[in-house]
Amino acid sequence: MKQHSELDLRINRDGPGTSLTGSLVSQIRQLVLSGALKPGDRIPASRQLAADLGVARGTVTTAIDMLASEDLLVARKGAGVFVSGARPGLGNSGTGLSSDFVAVPPPIPLPDMDVAMDAPFDFRPCRPSTAEFPRREWKRCLADAAGARVSPDYGDPQGLPELRHEIAEYLRRSRGLVAQPEEIVITGGIIHSVSLLSRLFLGVGSKVIVEDPGYPLARQVFRLCGAELLSCPVDEDGLIVEALPATGQDISFIYTTPSHQFPMGSRLSTARREALIDWAEANKVIVLEDDYDGEFRFDVPPLPPLAAMRNNCAVHLGTFSKTLAPGLRIGFAAAPAPLIDAMTRYRAIQEYAPNSLMQAALAGFIRAGHFERHIKRMRRVYRNKRQTLRDCLGEHDVPGQLIGLESGLHAVLMLPRDLNAEMISAAAAEEGLLIPPVSRYQSNPGRAPSNGLVIGYSEPGIETLRLGLRQLARIILA
Ligand SMILES: Cc1ncc(COP(=O)(O)O)c(C=O)c1O
Repeated sequence: MKQHSELDLRINRDGPGTSLTGSLVSQIRQLVLSGALKPGDRIPASRQLAADLGVARGTVTTAIDMLASEDLLVARKGAGVFVSGARPGLGNSGTGLSSDFVAVPPPIPLPDMDVAMDAPFDFRPCRPSTAEFPRREWKRCLADAAGARVSPDYGDPQGLPELRHEIAEYLRRSRGLVAQPEEIVITGGIIHSVSLLSRLFLGVGSKVIVEDPGYPLARQVFRLCGAELLSCPVDEDGLIVEALPATGQDISFIYTTPSHQFPMGSRLSTARREALIDWAEANKVIVLEDDYDGEFRFDVPPLPPLAAMRNNCAVHLGTFSKTLAPGLRIGFAAAPAPLIDAMTRYRAIQEYAPNSLMQAALAGFIRAGHFERHIKRMRRVYRNKRQTLRDCLGEHDVPGQLIGLESGLHAVLMLPRDLNAEMISAAAAEEGLLIPPVSRYQSNPGRAPSNGLVIGYSEPGIETLRLGLRQLARIILA
């Protein structure tokens, strides 16, 4: 509760028409209606207010009585006069901007997969397990970063040089991708990288090839930049490169998830990688290689990132959302320096530079070896959960085929024809079990929905996973 000892009130003795009381009433009413005075705020004592304004005390008490009769003020015996909780006729927002005055564009539709939900069994994909997050180590790195000298400058719009250096070294060790720190820009995650690139290259009439099914948020970014989407189907070897248009002269991007197709989970085969690069080179199309969870690979050999293969047409997009936590909002793009420079300039006009404290903490975290130790540990954790998924579906005799298990943090259960994935997903959601159907990620409405369920097995604990899968089995077998 706040006491307003200095209300911004003025008494105009020479003004025509309005009485002193009336002037006081309308000014206090305006302060309440605009939100400058909030419910519960205390009005100065009438004696003090009268003295401050140089008016008779009776003028003030009459004004207060009138405002109390409007339910704007309330007198509490022995405590004083307060702004009341009920504020009739209050239509404006706190800024005073009313919706009649500003034509607010219609809200951008967002895919529901990205909304936080409170469900007992949240098995949606792409949610890392944060129970094992190395809090102690992270806290130390954050404290070190916070204790360092605070720069009076905004920082490098391309991102902290030491973090770019750590990422360059990490990409070389983990992916065999050789990028210099000058060829990396730090962003607020993959979707931010996609946004920056889209703003630079796309406009009304541009064309972008997307995987179908694919990542809805990226599709939405392309669309909002005016692009027309051309969808390309995927199979167990990833994007079906043979299905790309014979000529791609007027296409700006091809957006793909080669290390773990989202959401089907396949890996783009070596032959298809070669063919895709050939196609992109021949048609001068930029490949956006979204490597959102490529750290997690199980019992299969690594495949080279597209950006590491013989050419300059792929932009490698990485993130710390799945390895550490999505709320960090740190990712990066690796590409030839002129493209990185263009992205950097665009980001500079948006927000100058990324958050320097978080970048410094993350650079220290990687440098100290905590990041790669954490990934190693998480591979074991996810391997166990993946096994639990397999075992549980087997134990309960769930029909269908589990695919996309070689890498990443989710798998897809393809159901036989007599079971309907959309209906099962809806029935499960009613019981607080969130397992989206593949069709939610499809972009081509003309194509028959893929009859699968996308199961994110990474975040729930083993016991929760077991209970949820038992529930799913019951629903499927009902
Ligand atoms: C395919 C794909 N790409 C990118 C992202 C998001 O990455 P970021 O958090 O770095 O924007 C997701 C998130 O789930 C995803 O599924």
